[in-house]
Amino acid sequence: MATRKNLLLDTLPLLFICFAAVLGIYALGNYFQDTITRNRNLPILEIGAQVLPLEYDNDLPADRISIDLPTYFGTEAATDVFRARRGAEPVGLIFSPVRARGYNGMMELAIGVRYDGTLAGVRVLEHRETPGLGDQVHQDNTPWILGFNGRSLDNTPKDAWAVEKDGGNFDHISGATSSQRAVIRAVEFTLNQYRANRDTLY
Ligand SMILES: Cc1cc2nc3c(=O)[nH]c(=O)nc-3n(C[C@H](O)[C@H](O)[C@H](O)COP(=O)(O)O)c2cc1C
Repeated sequence: MATRKNLLLDTLPLLFICFAAVLGIYALGNYFQDTITRNRNLPILEIGAQVLPLEYDNDLPADRISIDLPTYFGTEAATDVFRARRGAEPVGLIFSPVRARGYNGMMELAIGVRYDGTLAGVRVLEHRETPGLGDQVHQDNTPWILGFNGRSLDNTPKDAWAVEKDGGNFDHISGATSSQRAVIRAVEFTLNQYRANRDTLY
């Protein structure tokens, strides 16, 4: 009998350790789940701070729809549209990724559009353009892409959506014309899609 009691006393600490371990694993799981969710959301929040630096109060990463945004090449690929709102008021949208066929392959862009159809920001997310040539369209290399800020279909006529070399309004970077054309056409195309589908997108 005494041996049985001793056995129980001996296993109590072990039971306690097991219980604590299970609790610990559960807590860690919750913590990491939280971190994973936050990390997954981080990119669009980081991108959003650049392409849509406006005030909104909704959960931007969650307020998302996926659309088939046909590019001007006639291909279709899913693009996410993140909707920024303030109360019930629409603030702007982020289209990401928007694809543009560059000199060396597809480039991916993030495009922020204010509710009124004005560009709030454009950034290159991915590209394979040549270093020193086409990669000059990337925000880390030149400020060229900032030239889209504030432009809209209303303040930039159709012919002006081109580099100066082609008779348009956008600065020309020597050796990067094809890359620039791709970005400009993709941005203009997105604005046209926005204008045609604004109510549906919100
Ligand atoms: C190896 C190589 C890589 C090139 N990479 C690019 C590029 O990334 N983007 C681009 O627009 N043009 C690229 N080009 C094309 C030339 O830069 C371009 O056709 C030529 O320099 C004309 O100059 P422009 O861009 O000022 O019109 C490349 C050409 C070569 C030979």
